[in-house]
Amino acid sequence: MKKAFITGVTGQDGYYLSKLLLDKGYEVHGTIRRSSSFNTQRIDSLISEHKSSGKFKLYYSDLLDSSSINSLIQKIVPDEVYNLAAQSHVAVSFKNPHFSTSTSTSGSVTLLDAIKNLDANTKYYQASSSEMFGGVGENSLNENSLFIPKSPYAVGKLFAHNMTKVYRESYDIFCVNGILFNHESPLRGETFVTRKISRAVGRIYHDIQKKLTLGNMNAVRDWGFAGDYVEAMWMMLQHDTPDDWVVATGKAYTVKDFAMEAFNVVGLNWEDYIQTDSKYERPNEVHHLLGDPAKANKELGWQAKTSFEELVKMMVDSDLKLAEKEKVLIDNKLIKPTWDHS
Ligand code: NAP
Ligand code: GDD
Repeated sequence: MKKAFITGVTGQDGYYLSKLLLDKGYEVHGTIRRSSSFNTQRIDSLISEHKSSGKFKLYYSDLLDSSSINSLIQKIVPDEVYNLAAQSHVAVSFKNPHFSTSTSTSGSVTLLDAIKNLDANTKYYQASSSEMFGGVGENSLNENSLFIPKSPYAVGKLFAHNMTKVYRESYDIFCVNGILFNHESPLRGETFVTRKISRAVGRIYHDIQKKLTLGNMNAVRDWGFAGDYVEAMWMMLQHDTPDDWVVATGKAYTVKDFAMEAFNVVGLNWEDYIQTDSKYERPNEVHHLLGDPAKANKELGWQAKTSFEELVKMMVDSDLKLAEKEKVLIDNKLIKPTWDHS
């Protein structure tokens, strides 16, 4: 039975990747951070499902704690390591630059070095990001495009990306970079723009929110479904040779397009509800990200299966159900509308 080690298992991709690997018969070992409130909501269903088999194991750790990461790698001796952990919000990385960059820089070196010292043919996946391209111009971006990072987040990711290549070339370790473009789902963090929109549509429809305030609505992104993208992560580690691959849909939309489509799902006009505020703009905006997945299509046989319209509908439908439950609790004075985290 293959063993996978996943950092960032409590995140959006952590859930979808764990599910994929558990369904394939892997034993999955994931790290979670100690927090004063519970942070395993996304993976609670997997924890219960695999309680008796013992195939889903969790450990307290943090990528900044190299000693705990080293001990875990030595104890588990995984076949595959997926480094998904990051402070992944670009706007927040301007506010917490040290933490955001260290998690990616120190974290990747700790893992790569632990794998090198283990000497057990462990394969490594680095969660690289289209954010590293910087979004200058409107060309479709591939593995050979220039990286022009524009945020502390992107600088940290570029360090980890380059370090992965250094370990691959220097020590013959099977390590890959998945340069993933934006991918979303009903489990997306609520402060990313797609989920902020789908959550607002659900709440506006159920009359528990009046307006939605956004930043730059002209920003362009290539949005896919996270469930499709974790398959590409796994496929990369099954390929004959290690390399770097872009994972994207090849189609680009504006934030405004996403909002229009989301309000359309419930038959409302977005213009009646959306306002803008410059506080949601970044100090250095990434304007346009469109990916060219030709290499992943050809070499990995990977294809994005979910269309933009299907993705938006999936997210809005899920958030309509959530808002309906919230409405009952609010009407019965069991909860109060929460602080705006966005
Ligand atoms: P996410 O939902 O924000 O999850 C991030 C995970 O990292 C969470 O489990 C978080 O733990 C954990 N984490 C943060 N700092 C950590 C630290 N210092 N030590 C250990 N764990 C830490 O992100 P995602 O959307 O699943 O993305 C997964 C990875 O892919 C990230 O590295 C992200 O930067 C990268 N990526 C994402 C996209 C995208 O569009 N989603 C695109 C390209 C690349 P808590 O739950 O405790 O906060
Ligand atoms: N979050 C947010 N909130 N973004 C907004 C808002 C808002 O109210 N209004 C407009 N935007 C714009 C942002 O300025 C950005 O141009 C775009 O919407 C997308 O923002 P996010 O959803 O926060 O994602 P991101 O593209 O910055 O970063 C995500 O994708 C990267 C891959 O390109 C994250 O998942 C990163 O971790 C990932 O690497």
